Amino acid sequence: MSLNHIIDVYKSAFGKEPAYVSMAPGRIEFLGNHTDYNGGCVMGATLNMGVYAAISERDDTKIRLTSASHGNTPIVEASLDNLVPFGAGRNSWANYPLGVLKVLIDEGAKAERGFDIAFWSDLPSGAGLSSSAAIELASAKVMSIFYEKEINDPVHLARIGRLAENTFVGLPCGILDQGTSAHGRKDHLVFIDCREESFHTYPLSEGTSFWVFNTHKKHSLVDSLYAQRHDECMQARDTLQKTYNNIEHLCDLTAPQVEACELDLPAASFKRAIHVTNENERVKRAAALLASGKSHAVGELMFQSHESSKTLFENSIPELDFLVDALKGKDGVLGARLTGGGFGGAVVAWADQNFTEVTAQSICDVYNDAYGRAPVVHHIETGDGARML
Ligand code: GLA
Repeated sequence: MSLNHIIDVYKSAFGKEPAYVSMAPGRIEFLGNHTDYNGGCVMGATLNMGVYAAISERDDTKIRLTSASHGNTPIVEASLDNLVPFGAGRNSWANYPLGVLKVLIDEGAKAERGFDIAFWSDLPSGAGLSSSAAIELASAKVMSIFYEKEINDPVHLARIGRLAENTFVGLPCGILDQGTSAHGRKDHLVFIDCREESFHTYPLSEGTSFWVFNTHKKHSLVDSLYAQRHDECMQARDTLQKTYNNIEHLCDLTAPQVEACELDLPAASFKRAIHVTNENERVKRAAALLASGKSHAVGELMFQSHESSKTLFENSIPELDFLVDALKGKDGVLGARLTGGGFGGAVVAWADQNFTEVTAQSICDVYNDAYGRAPVVHHIETGDGARML
């Protein structure tokens, strides 16, 4: 169905059949908020929705890109001879695939011919389910096979996506989104130790599933606020290295070690560092608890994570707090928290079978009474990681 759809999108944009098609899933961040670029641990899960990419060759060095995800985007043109990012504006979405292409070329891909590439996504937009990592990984799969060097190693795939985002798009993200999209597995959580770049999957507790409540609210400065949080964490790390000179990342420390240096740190950096170090411990604890089937205790850690994001990392918004509070104590809800970078977006709830559509709808109704616009709720199915179709 989705395969047919991306092929139709391709044919109507370029008037020919694609040679290769790939898919990379979106992700939810289960636990571990802003721990990834601090060398900590994080857990995500892949959805059965994501970004589809289709490609075929050209006999010149032109690159033509189109995306049918949100209405028909006009074709964007670039060239192999001069790969530079577009500035902010309506073509800027193309920086994700072009960034991947640049990384592949830097790694030695023999890019002599250009291509026509089309994208289509069935991910709900603006929900913080990482369509950006999905477009990067779908691009990396389909472009690498196009240039006859298919990347099958998920660790390599995730690195390419992150590098494209850090260096070409210009966002200092960690490896959570790309790592999850590359390693995802249906009915599993992906545990990432970002310091080691090691990945493990854990089966999701039986009978549990995810619900995403999308507020459709987004801070207008979301990217620069993300970068600001990143800088505050790096500032904390640099200062703490004067006391703990053998550390490389903030997450090499524990919260008590950070507390001992409170006076050395600006107030904001101190709060960020306490959040990040405690959050890292929560993720490790959750992994151990999941292995022994203690879902309720894991869910409690999700609530604690949200509270910490709200008060210490200060990347929540009142609408997300409202939803988490409304979910707390509802029949079947194990845990709930903001998911992803924050400053808007969505709340993810982890629930067992006692949580129903009716309860989800009642939460949307009280939210609507408070904010005058209901959130959009999705009962999510998990799916496998990035792949060729
Ligand atoms: C975004 C980034 C990730 C991660 C999360 C916050 O999703 O892309 O790398 O930092 O925010 O945990």
